[in-house]
Amino acid sequence: MRRALVWSGLIVLVGLGVISAVVRVLAIAKVKSVTDARLVAAATMLPDYAAEIPMIEQGFADNPSVTLIHVTTGGLFLMLGLLQFSPSIRNRHRQFHRWSGRFLVGLAYLSGVAGIWLGVVAPYSPTERAPTAMAGVMFLITPIIAVTSVRRGNLARHREWMIRFFAVGVGIVVIRIVGPFIIWFMSPTPFRDIVGLTFWAGWIISVLVAEVWIRRTRARQLR
Ligand code: HEM
Repeated sequence: MRRALVWSGLIVLVGLGVISAVVRVLAIAKVKSVTDARLVAAATMLPDYAAEIPMIEQGFADNPSVTLIHVTTGGLFLMLGLLQFSPSIRNRHRQFHRWSGRFLVGLAYLSGVAGIWLGVVAPYSPTERAPTAMAGVMFLITPIIAVTSVRRGNLARHREWMIRFFAVGVGIVVIRIVGPFIIWFMSPTPFRDIVGLTFWAGWIISVLVAEVWIRRTRARQLR
């Protein structure tokens, strides 16, 4: 029951992440204007945020290649990453798990470095820098610990670090879920002053939930 709940939650989060990646690709390709849709959605509930949307959109438009690399590799990472946690796929298709795992680390490095660029080098707000650097470093280091562990035959440690790794990726979706509540609660503080706060909140929640899951399931894994 608990496992089914976690899986359903993860599928919804991954779905939302993939949708936001596709929407951003369409916006960069100028197929669809995200600005108009977001303005309409935010205008009534979050008017202060709505006023800043065109400037946020401009930031992505000014960095098209980095944004495209970041969101396409990030979207693929979420979809493929979820499959790695399925015990039936892992047990029945061990080769797929291995190759997909290697590919995922490559995707994470591309997405992570591009994400660090967007949030540290070319941020919309300076408040993005610290949380992005923190999450970016975690996103690059956790897979190294996970892969080293499995090479040494430590499967339990491999599993735990892969959960932490995936939690950082999923955190980007949690940011988008908790963000509107923080913007609403902090109103009329300008969005540019609290972007970083939404990043910290989303990433910390995601990593903490993963940590609780790791600790609760640790005993069962070792049995
Ligand atoms: C791996 C899964 C990830 C996915 C699917 C993803 C997706 C996205 C998308 C779609 C955007 C554009 C935002 C929009 O359209 O409003 C974005 C922006 C951004 N991402 Fe990621 N991302 C992922 C991981 C990361 C990681 C690990 C970092 C940390 C280095 C990061 C840092 C950023 C930053 C700083 C921005 C610009 C600010 C913003 O969120 O609007 N992302 N990401």
